[in-house]
Amino acid sequence: MCGIVGYIGKRDATPILMEGLHRLEYRGYDSAGLAVARNEKLQVIKTKGKVRDLERILPERIKGMTGIAHTRWATHGEPSDRNAHPHTDTSERFAIVHNGIIENAASLRTKLEASGVTFRSETDSEVIAHLLAASPADTLEDSLRSVLRLVTGTYGIAVLDAQRPESIVIARNGSPVVIGIGDREMFVASDPAALVRHTQSVVHLDDGELAVVRADGYETSTLDGGATAKTPLTIPWTDESFDKGEFSHYMRKEIAEQPDAIRRTLSGRLEPRFQTTHIGGLEMAARELLEVKRIKILGCGSAYIAGSLGAHLIEQLARLPASAEPASEFRYRNPVIEQDTLYIAVSQSGETFDTLAAVQEVKRKGGRVLGIVNVVGSTIARECARGIYLHAGPEIAVVSTKTFTSTVVAFALLAVHLGRLKDLSTAQGARLLAALQALPDQVATILNQEARIATLAQRFARHENAYFVGRAAGFPIAMEGALKLKEISYLHAEAYPASELKHGPLALISPETPTVIVMPRDDLYAKNLSTIEEIRARSGPTFVITQPGDPLPMPVDAVIEVPKSEAVLDPLLLNIPLQLLAYHVALARGRNIDQPRNLAKSVTVE
Ligand code: F6R
Repeated sequence: MCGIVGYIGKRDATPILMEGLHRLEYRGYDSAGLAVARNEKLQVIKTKGKVRDLERILPERIKGMTGIAHTRWATHGEPSDRNAHPHTDTSERFAIVHNGIIENAASLRTKLEASGVTFRSETDSEVIAHLLAASPADTLEDSLRSVLRLVTGTYGIAVLDAQRPESIVIARNGSPVVIGIGDREMFVASDPAALVRHTQSVVHLDDGELAVVRADGYETSTLDGGATAKTPLTIPWTDESFDKGEFSHYMRKEIAEQPDAIRRTLSGRLEPRFQTTHIGGLEMAARELLEVKRIKILGCGSAYIAGSLGAHLIEQLARLPASAEPASEFRYRNPVIEQDTLYIAVSQSGETFDTLAAVQEVKRKGGRVLGIVNVVGSTIARECARGIYLHAGPEIAVVSTKTFTSTVVAFALLAVHLGRLKDLSTAQGARLLAALQALPDQVATILNQEARIATLAQRFARHENAYFVGRAAGFPIAMEGALKLKEISYLHAEAYPASELKHGPLALISPETPTVIVMPRDDLYAKNLSTIEEIRARSGPTFVITQPGDPLPMPVDAVIEVPKSEAVLDPLLLNIPLQLLAYHVALARGRNIDQPRNLAKSVTVE
């Protein structure tokens, strides 16, 4: 998705903007550009392609101490040099970078064209630059305010006036913008990743806010002009946490980081004295929690799948009815919001538009929402006000791996907490705490099997279609395995409950269609053995993810074993080989693993 970077201070802006753009590359984009103000003129360079393409065409002489920059992910108009941001007005006095969508751009464009303006791009964003030029207001902030009154839609926006380069003005409605506070210099970004090298002190704008950012300070206000008070937040990530280190891909690094990520998610939250867990951000007393009659979990993609496992954990340990639903659909079915239901929004980035919209729908109807989020201070975290931070560290690869695992751990913490308020015994609580503490080492032992999984991936990579099946909590793992594989290898992968296979998909089982069977040695093990027989009877290759025990009673194409945990935590471990499988299939197929085609790290548009 689009990214914004801005700098104002005493240093040369261009290298800082370029480095910020590099930091945003992980989000996915198709063009890049920057504008720097100097001697009352704008210098604007932009191009289709990658930030390194921009670097190649950057003239030596582009100097100045105030600038804005952008990575664009095309919505209105194809990826091209002229559609890349920044956009300027005709006289090239105002430069703007914009994330989001201006919904009434077409009618604004018609009016501007009627008044003699010639547009240079097909973007919705360019109207903002021309409207700024047409504004009679005295200050840049008042001009932007008047322009934003005319537009409908979503924006995170940064604006530069060549004639008044002593400030950058930014505004937000539905698309994040943060200010980074430096020492007599300030940074602006749509994602703190772009500025963490320079500062960890940030201020997040809220929807409907605007800020004037100068080298020595900033002022925030509402779009109507009323001042707002903001408290800077410290982001817990350092620049080093964004390095790829010895790994060739961020995804591989993040898979390897899982033992540490789990430790951090658990840190300070286990209470062995009472065989329970302590979740600081929950802010709900025991009595309030006991009044909860149902739990509804909302998230998109892998966050939704992790939520499905969360629902399973809560039902099993706390015996509370719990279910997960894709957040992207939630608001469209006019959901009934119940007072005795606790809603949980799951989002790694904390910026996913559909999840945020679901949270707002619940809140608008008077419901309570708790967030399970990785990025501290992100929009969903702030909107939920209470919740559980994952502390998994930044996830740069577009596909989620360590945050999926940490989300399941966070749900386990919550489920134990709720369970211990109810029927979960001290002995069961103690066993679960021990199992949670054992997870990091167990994940590490699975990662040691990488060479075997890589060999298996070579065989898998030859196929174009695959099924992933599982039962009960094994089914979300099948979903996650299939999602990961299709996202990065572009191999068509479908997940099915194993019990559903004979109700349709068996028609497609053949020697060309491998099936991955997720089968812990639980009560459903024998049923999964029957599933394998069904597949073998159609000569389908079978890849089994299971746990140590008696040899399988029939030949299969491969078996990967993971250590046993408490039954409710087994799915988390069964998922790890599937991450490695997806990674190595994508590697064998020569894919762009960290930035798969058509996908973005956080989907901040509808
Ligand atoms: C899958 C993946 C996506 C995200 C989804 C939600 O690998 O990464 O499906 O899980 O877009 O993202 P967050 O968790 O940031 O809300």
